[in-house]
Amino acid sequence: MENLIEIQNVYKTYQLGKVGSQALSDVSLCVHKGEIIVILGPSGSGKTTLLNVISGLDRVSKGKILYKGKNIAKYRDYRMTQFRKKNLGFIFQTYNLLEHLNVYENVLVGASLGKAKVDIDQIIDTVGLKRHKKKYMHQLSGGEQQRVSIARALAKNPSVMFCDEPTGALDEKTGKIVLKSLVEANEKLGTTMIIVTHNPGIALIGDRIVRMNSGKIVEVKENKSRMNPQEIPWG
Ligand SMILES: Nc1ncnc2c1ncn2[C@@H]1O[C@H](COP(=O)(O)OP(=O)(O)OP(=O)(O)O)[C@@H](O)[C@H]1O
Ligand SMILES: [Mg+2]
Repeated sequence: MENLIEIQNVYKTYQLGKVGSQALSDVSLCVHKGEIIVILGPSGSGKTTLLNVISGLDRVSKGKILYKGKNIAKYRDYRMTQFRKKNLGFIFQTYNLLEHLNVYENVLVGASLGKAKVDIDQIIDTVGLKRHKKKYMHQLSGGEQQRVSIARALAKNPSVMFCDEPTGALDEKTGKIVLKSLVEANEKLGTTMIIVTHNPGIALIGDRIVRMNSGKIVEVKENKSRMNPQEIPWG
């Protein structure tokens, strides 16, 4: 399988006054093109930190982050921002949508960030929001809003989507619908997905499960067949 990202011996230390706190300690991992990786681990184990350094939102203290062989950890801020804008998509627990724009317009804003020419209607359809295209954010449920943010991220056709607790604010039924949208995007568009969660059921929708504890990867497990999000146990 083709390696899209290689994380090599990454360390992250947060400096708090005189003491350093080690959030990541010698983390190495390869991300394959087109796969869904789910990162699991208890609170404080370093999941978000790992996601942030892989996606260039934060800096490593030591180590390499290679995208197709290029070490982005060495990029200066401007170049890093450009790289992120062009290649990466983000989904967070909170949706960060533009309230004064409707669904279609929010997705359009996402498209304007990327270079790829995309069919906005088709993307809105992929996340199942065709009926809601003209609605404003306050007219949508939490799950629908999260699907708008997925559509917005997909609209620039990113090579990788980073999802930090994408269902953290959602109930089981809505959360599963959102996960289905992510899996469908992966299947239809080939988008590589890295999903962080502390819900172990979600791990079953992925191809590989990475377990973290105390800033280290403690296990990487292959999932032979992905489970349909509708069928996973919740929590
Ligand atoms: N900006 C920061 N400054 C100092 N310490 C930080 C900072 N961000 C995170 N940490 C520390 O790094 C460790 C890892 O935090 P991280 O946010 O990566 O955990 P997490 O696995 O995402 O947890 P959660 O499941 O609660 O979101 C924690 O001990 C946290 O307190
Ligand atoms: Mg976190």
